[in-house]
Amino acid sequence: MDLQDFINRLDQLGELRRVDGADWDLEIGTITELGDERGGPALLFDHIKGYPSGFQVVSNLIATPGRMAAGFGFPPGLSNIELVRRIKDRFKDLQPIPPVYVREGPVLQNVYRDGDVDMFRFPTPRWHEADGGRYIGTGDMVVTKDPKDGWVNVGTYRVQIHDKDTLGLYISPGHQGRLIRESYWAQGKACPVAVVFGAHPMAWMPAFMPLAWGVEEYRIAGGLMGEPLKLVAGEYTGLPFPADSEIVVEGDCPPPEVESRKEGPFGEWTGYYASGARSEAVIKVKRVLHRNNPVILGCPPLRPPASGSGNYVLRASNVWYEMERLGIPGIRGVWDMRAGASRLITVVSIEQKYAGHAKQAAMAALVGPDGAYASRFVIVVDEDIDPTSDEDVLWAMATRCDPATSLEIVRGCWSTPLDPTISPEKRQQGDFTSSRAMILACRPFHWRKDFPKVNRASDELRAATLRKWATVIPAQAGIHKTG
Ligand SMILES: Cc1cc2nc3c(=O)[nH]c(=O)nc-3n(C[C@H](O)[C@H](O)[C@H](O)COP(=O)(O)O)c2cc1C
Repeated sequence: MDLQDFINRLDQLGELRRVDGADWDLEIGTITELGDERGGPALLFDHIKGYPSGFQVVSNLIATPGRMAAGFGFPPGLSNIELVRRIKDRFKDLQPIPPVYVREGPVLQNVYRDGDVDMFRFPTPRWHEADGGRYIGTGDMVVTKDPKDGWVNVGTYRVQIHDKDTLGLYISPGHQGRLIRESYWAQGKACPVAVVFGAHPMAWMPAFMPLAWGVEEYRIAGGLMGEPLKLVAGEYTGLPFPADSEIVVEGDCPPPEVESRKEGPFGEWTGYYASGARSEAVIKVKRVLHRNNPVILGCPPLRPPASGSGNYVLRASNVWYEMERLGIPGIRGVWDMRAGASRLITVVSIEQKYAGHAKQAAMAALVGPDGAYASRFVIVVDEDIDPTSDEDVLWAMATRCDPATSLEIVRGCWSTPLDPTISPEKRQQGDFTSSRAMILACRPFHWRKDFPKVNRASDELRAATLRKWATVIPAQAGIHKTG
């Protein structure tokens, strides 16, 4: 299964729209933004202005829960919470499968070396108006190898085209690709890098999930797909990449004192241009490989509630899994609000079992590799609240949370230069930390039995009334939930 198989699958499901004749300069980006905001299908762009047909871009690939479910091979029609539960269980039961190495694969159909390298061969979009250039790497996989322990890391980090054989690579502080890169630089060496621009979503997904240090994304991808990934070792770096990748580059990332360029600005996932343009490391590209009719997997950050990546589904599943691994009992559901840029507002629903349980759950949601990175608010609600319903959660917050006693703030936590709340002074000092708020929006444990009763008909009465009065009650109850 490769990206093109998955695109065909979406087509069969009626979840794909083909778009001919769009301009790489802003049109693809703006169609993507408007389409995602409206919950539209995945978009496959061909006959892109100035490029031969067959050189394509796909966007909004797994932007909705339905298409995320298709990526996992789940049946259509699951509720959001059921989808998150199933993905969490997939992570829990996952047996990593090591990849196998092969010598042949579609990605070797076209190979360009050294002087023949030209990154402008591909219809790379300029996604947003204020972007400082064209970004080929948005839904990508950046492959590096830890020089000490020899494990292979794969991360999704943005890649800008500077010129025909120079790319910009932005990795946030604390991310594993950055720590690995710094290990090479500490020895005065360039860091070998390969970047995949387009792979099956199950091969790609682990790249944008924060995983524990040393965990190899390719093994997780194999476990998710139920079979080993077939990898080719690059002839220049020796780094492995999927044999059915769409486009791959290999090259070196020299220490910044040897070469760096102005990177950005780039529209970011929080909905801002917080990190502006800075001097950043580059990749000197030595090899370009691509299959015939290559598809760039485009996943530009969009102003929330648009998401582009569907990451709110995946992160909620991963944080739930991280909390279970810590042994937190009674978790009924975890969700990330789309308006919270997929990771800034996390909701945890629990069945409170003991005093302090709610606060323990809130803290647990903030410590795993995924929970800790660039988070902001964790809201804990009782089990009668649907965590995937923003209205239910806000009602719980408004009515079960006493700000004087139900809020807890933790300062100085792991964030990113992309965090819009980091002040110019902190930026100058390189202090990319921010605070977290835990909001306990559940009934206080020690007097929960005396907490006022909820003013709503019982489930039985509602069901019976709906049956008897079906003709006078709208099928879908607007913002109010029916069950
Ligand atoms: C579409 C998308 C784009 C991303 N772009 C970047 C980026 O440019 N730089 C970055 O450091 N993290 C970026 N991230 C987040 C990382 O991919 C994510 O935190 C990942 O787990 C990092 O991998 P690592 O833990 O192996 O470093 C992006 C995530 C997504 C979903």
